[in-house]
Amino acid sequence: MAEHDHNQRALTRQTRLVHSASGAGASLPAESVAPAIQRASTVLMPNAASLYDHNAPTYGRQGLASQKALSSAICDLEGASFCQLYGSGLAAVTGALTSILHSGDTLLVTDGVYQPVRRFCDGFLTRFGVTTLYFPADATPQEVAAYFTPNTRAILLESPASLTFEMMDVAAVAQAARARGVISLIDNTYGAGLAFRPLDHGVDISIQALTKYVCGHSDVFLGSACTNDKGLEQQICQTMIDAGFAVGPDEAYQGLRGLRTLATRFKVHGEAGLVVADWMKNQPGVANILHPALPGCAGHDLWKRDFTGVCGLFGIELQPMAEKRVEAMLNRLKLFGLGFSWGGFESLAILSKPTRTAKPWTGGPLIRLHVGLEDTDDLIADLDQAMEVWRD
Ligand SMILES: Cc1ncc(COP(=O)(O)O)c(C=O)c1O
Repeated sequence: MAEHDHNQRALTRQTRLVHSASGAGASLPAESVAPAIQRASTVLMPNAASLYDHNAPTYGRQGLASQKALSSAICDLEGASFCQLYGSGLAAVTGALTSILHSGDTLLVTDGVYQPVRRFCDGFLTRFGVTTLYFPADATPQEVAAYFTPNTRAILLESPASLTFEMMDVAAVAQAARARGVISLIDNTYGAGLAFRPLDHGVDISIQALTKYVCGHSDVFLGSACTNDKGLEQQICQTMIDAGFAVGPDEAYQGLRGLRTLATRFKVHGEAGLVVADWMKNQPGVANILHPALPGCAGHDLWKRDFTGVCGLFGIELQPMAEKRVEAMLNRLKLFGLGFSWGGFESLAILSKPTRTAKPWTGGPLIRLHVGLEDTDDLIADLDQAMEVWRD
């Protein structure tokens, strides 16, 4: 009788508030154009036995609805069977590397790698007994092959290279690596899975800073590492679990939102970038355009062979001039913001300072432009007025 009373008892307002706000048991009122965001650290299991059934998520860190939806969409983009999400592009590179490297290994890295990755290799990886060797960003497959030793565990590529835009024969390097049992990884942020799909070219792990074109609005950090190799998938997953890295549902949702317009934005960025680069090449003060998709530029043949599109990022090598004169031009820009990122809706410019240890940069001062979604006539007019400082 006492038990019956307990079951019938109405819950207090305090308890009702705690539980009703969870939304548990509420069905979605309508089908919406945007996916639902499942926000949770705690996952409720249907019964006590399932608490230890690891076939389904038992904790939010493993990723719930929006993270799963984003991983599966990035798999589709990259032609992968597995995608691990990370909290930033840099975390995706370092997360993938730490998944596969062991103390005593040697890692080969392109000299043109995104600079913070170099810092990670030279500092963090050194502390854990991994040696990093850099090879020139425009090395031929034969030149790269000369760097392989019995200790080489992995090779990290980026093509085109950050800041200097050298291209590599990715397929040939990946094939040479595989022949020696070396794992190949590439930072594919430039290709975004639209212009280039590294896994189709024999690369083992394709990494993106989704922060750039996928999210597309310069307000979210996200990264991804994709593979078709079951063994690598297992290592990447295990490292995620062991290290406790996690991506929040709201960030994953922003990635999904960006993906819907990625192809349309990417095309506009790419076409506008070519228009601006083509105009830039004849301007005073300009020595060389670093844009593999522009005919006549270094790497164009490889770009034509391997890429099906282009993004809005390129470099400009200037005639020798003092850094102050370059800065004076940048300071006059009104539509191009001065900022380090790219892939967002807006145009950006930086004075590039590439770190190169395998093959020092011997050219003139470098500028990098990201061409956003503004009208190219307006962007060209902005560059034109800023370059007045070089016409004195
Ligand atoms: C080529 C490349 N890879 C990775 C990253 C890092 O991405 P995130 O800023 O999301 O860490 C960047 C950032 O600028 C980048 O340019």
